[in-house]
Amino acid sequence: MKHIAKGWHSEIYLTERGTVIKRFKEGLYRNFEKEVRILKQLSNYDFVPKLFSFNNEKMEIEMEYIRGINLREFLRRERDRDKIFNVIKKIFEICFILDKHKIQKEEMNNPEKHIIISDDRIVFIDFERAVEKNRPSNVTQFVEYLYKKKEVLEKFGIKLNEKSKVIEYLKKYKKEYTKESLEDLLRNIFNF
Ligand SMILES: Nc1ncnc2c1ncn2[C@@H]1O[C@H](COP(=O)(O)OP(=O)(O)O)[C@@H](O)[C@H]1O
Ligand SMILES: [Mg+2]
Repeated sequence: MKHIAKGWHSEIYLTERGTVIKRFKEGLYRNFEKEVRILKQLSNYDFVPKLFSFNNEKMEIEMEYIRGINLREFLRRERDRDKIFNVIKKIFEICFILDKHKIQKEEMNNPEKHIIISDDRIVFIDFERAVEKNRPSNVTQFVEYLYKKKEVLEKFGIKLNEKSKVIEYLKKYKKEYTKESLEDLLRNIFNF
């Protein structure tokens, strides 16, 4: 097993089988349990790593290894406006599905390391701190993140509407949690 990353709450290893083992640090049983639960709950979607097995005693989760680059790297490297825009739209769709499942991933306003852009899919990792909420804010938090990136996105030709003009659509979305209100929101953020 090869150590590939040190997380805040875990160590990450790549196995000979080409899978990932996330081993939680001592005392973090709840985080371990939470991540297992959410990966199970979302196992029908390809935007989470496949869960292969878990070991309660060792607090280890064996999951699919996701090849690709994280959102931060992606925004550093990619120059193609349409590709960037498509990735942003897909992330919104995933946030919407999470909202529908009443799972708040947390830190979607700072998701750069936890969104992996793979060749053919986008994958969210690290669910150990997710919370079940009646009014989850994944979409809302990702909007916040985009506004933090406003200048960078503008350089790529993606212009965001003034935030003050978008707030009413954010509120409407958070009231309705519908596809329509999400589309209205996106139309108003990106002016199309
Ligand atoms: N399934 C995976 N596939 C590929 N890389 C992963 C996977 N899980 C974790 N990593 C890598 O390990 C890092 C830390 O994982 P993370 O789940 O965020 O740990 P922690 O919750 O302890 O901070 C990630 O930023 C990523 O680079
Ligand atoms: Mg974490």
